[in-house]
Amino acid sequence: MARILVCDDQDLMRDSLASLLAREGHEVVAAGDGPQALQRLAIGKIDLMITDLKMPRMTGIELLTEAKKLRPELPVVLMTAFATVQTAVEAMKLGAYDYIQKPFEGDEIKMLVDRTLEHSRLKHENAALKSVVADAQAPRPLIGISAEMDEIKKKIDLVAKSSVTVLVRGESGTGKEVVARAIHAAGDRRERPMLAVNCAALSENLLESELFGHEKGAFTGADKTRRGRFELADGGTLLLDEISEIAPGLQAKLLRVLQESSFERVGSSTTQVVDVRVVATTNRDLEEEVAAGRFRQDLFYRLNVVPIDLPALRERVEDIPDLVRHFLHRIARRDQAAFRHIEPEALRLMQRYPWPGNVRELQNIVERAIILETSPGVIRAETISPWLRIPTNNNVAAAQDLAGKPLADIEKQVIKSTLERFRGHRVKTATALGIGVRTLGMKLKKWKEDGEPVEVGA
Ligand SMILES: Nc1ncnc2c1ncn2[C@@H]1O[C@H](COP(=O)(O)OP(=O)(O)OP(=O)(O)O)[C@@H](O)[C@H]1O
Ligand SMILES: [Mg+2]
Repeated sequence: MARILVCDDQDLMRDSLASLLAREGHEVVAAGDGPQALQRLAIGKIDLMITDLKMPRMTGIELLTEAKKLRPELPVVLMTAFATVQTAVEAMKLGAYDYIQKPFEGDEIKMLVDRTLEHSRLKHENAALKSVVADAQAPRPLIGISAEMDEIKKKIDLVAKSSVTVLVRGESGTGKEVVARAIHAAGDRRERPMLAVNCAALSENLLESELFGHEKGAFTGADKTRRGRFELADGGTLLLDEISEIAPGLQAKLLRVLQESSFERVGSSTTQVVDVRVVATTNRDLEEEVAAGRFRQDLFYRLNVVPIDLPALRERVEDIPDLVRHFLHRIARRDQAAFRHIEPEALRLMQRYPWPGNVRELQNIVERAIILETSPGVIRAETISPWLRIPTNNNVAAAQDLAGKPLADIEKQVIKSTLERFRGHRVKTATALGIGVRTLGMKLKKWKEDGEPVEVGA
């Protein structure tokens, strides 16, 4: 099962392809044009994109080019009419995986989708096997001035001094990996290797030999002895990404290494002893996984010695200006281009958007703005505002709910829910609502005096 983005301006084509793929068990995300497709890509995980070539606003080729900048490894399949086959062939040079000529049979596209996904899975698996992160080793600064980030930085400094296991939790894109690297870089292990394994990327068997290594002949294809990540990271740090995805059989083995620092290679009876600090990350609620019987409770306790919780970006909007400037600098340096400024109004827009994809989405938007901004030296609010719309369906529904209510009630309701989002933090609430803190304070005071206080639950 994969998540497939289907982009076509013709509703009929898009819907029939979407339902065909859905019947195959895939999750389909639909887009009616290129800009919409790019937005979907920036927000969430997409395994494959199928796009029409001829579309208004942005052609399939332009979409392919932009998509590859955002996600170089994304497999893309083009749909083309006979007249544009030549263009599709050209597009393969730009990194499209394949194309299919319209009209096509259901079986044809199904086979093409399967083949593309299989190819991409193998490539991914290969990359995961080579996931020695030496090159990505350069310490990445942890940007953020919010009280929340301050707490996190303090906690990093504290845990860095010991070898305690750390569990970093947070929504996707909040910076869990950045924190893991900062922990490694701040401690005595910094001269030793830091390796990473993505527990969601490999099958159970591959993950086992990736973590613990194997002896020659341990299974078909094991033609040499191979050391696992725990051995290779000896003296250093091992990052176990997406720990919730680790299969039950392996959970027991992992628990043992964490408790006793010992394990055996697959197919061996010799016990290895290593000194590795483990940092695990998850964007799932592990307690819930434990309650559902999918994650061992004893392993959860062992991992959860020191949890670090990364708040979502919308809960620390004061970090946004620094993050944006940091990304602008970094991209300018990488591209050897001049630094662009950002309009204050553009920053304000960003601080009002809820960022479902968190810092990663913010980074993608900055990157896209640099590519698509036509005004030199600056990034304008006008350029980015179309990308920062909250999905319109919700807007319409919400607006209909509110229709006919007194404005004063609506105001109170909005202030209450914004306060709740920021857990009662007035400065953040006022910033998000675009009003002064004193104005907010006055309103709250008035409601209290009127005997109808706005209360925020803890
Ligand atoms: N505080 C920060 N300062 C600087 N860059 C950050 C910060 N937080 C996140 N980033 C950047 O945002 C991107 C996403 O961060 P990261 O990969 O650490 O997120 P994650 O929480 O591990 O996401 P996922 O759950 O999807 O794996 C990275 O490019 C990272 O460099
Ligand atoms: Mg991560």
